[in-house]
Amino acid sequence: MRTPVAAGNWKMNLTPDAAEALARAVHDAAPGLPGVEIVLCPPAVYLASVARVVSNGPVALGGQNLYWEAEGAFTGEISGHMLRWVGCRYCIVGHSERRHVLKETDDEVNRKVRAAQRHSLVPIFCVGETRQHRESGQMEEVITTQVRRGLDGFAPRASGDLVIAYEPVWAIGTGLTATPQQADTVHRLVRGLIRQLWGDALAAGIRILYGGSVKPDNIEGLVAQPDIDGVLVGGASLKAEAFLAIARGCRLRSCS
Ligand code: PGA
Repeated sequence: MRTPVAAGNWKMNLTPDAAEALARAVHDAAPGLPGVEIVLCPPAVYLASVARVVSNGPVALGGQNLYWEAEGAFTGEISGHMLRWVGCRYCIVGHSERRHVLKETDDEVNRKVRAAQRHSLVPIFCVGETRQHRESGQMEEVITTQVRRGLDGFAPRASGDLVIAYEPVWAIGTGLTATPQQADTVHRLVRGLIRQLWGDALAAGIRILYGGSVKPDNIEGLVAQPDIDGVLVGGASLKAEAFLAIARGCRLRSCS
């Protein structure tokens, strides 16, 4: 049984006070949500204050990005070491905003995925096609390339060493959500690719999350799908009530 994940990607939002208050609300509610792994990914400058709030509780902390070098003259970058020191267990890698707005390549994403593992961080490795890719019938090819290139040379020892997030670019922050069936089709494709890479046992255990306009009112349909193991949430993770409702929705999966 794969434990579902509800991960909140706060992106470049919130004031310091609001970040702390949101973390506290999630931390306080989390013990009442057993069976779901809750992860918060605040902006890097708030990691330390959020870590203080969630330490000694069930909520895990994640970075939104990392650099592949361990230290040195890389102005503005943050290493895996630093994320670990501040209390992160996870790090989002290859989010579509980094791929498309910040022009990260598959090669850079791959370096980051491997760097995360070197620093004992679990990458939340993101893949997803654009609307144009989907409409021109290239979805499968794009996802396959992103998975193969992004995970080249990555060697998971256990299924907990990696989380994958399928986030169709056309669904992120747009209010458009992939239907549960559309998402599940891609999740099955990704799981099949993982099986080819690392065999049945790892493919059966690695969690594949869906992301893109997840809200309290669409969570149930998504997690009812056999290959959707939780969600990566942007906008709706900025409000405690909405995010906690989503996390509760993920429990339906663990209870079923
Ligand atoms: P959204 O973002 O929930 O606001 O669509 C999801 C994401 O980018 O991870």
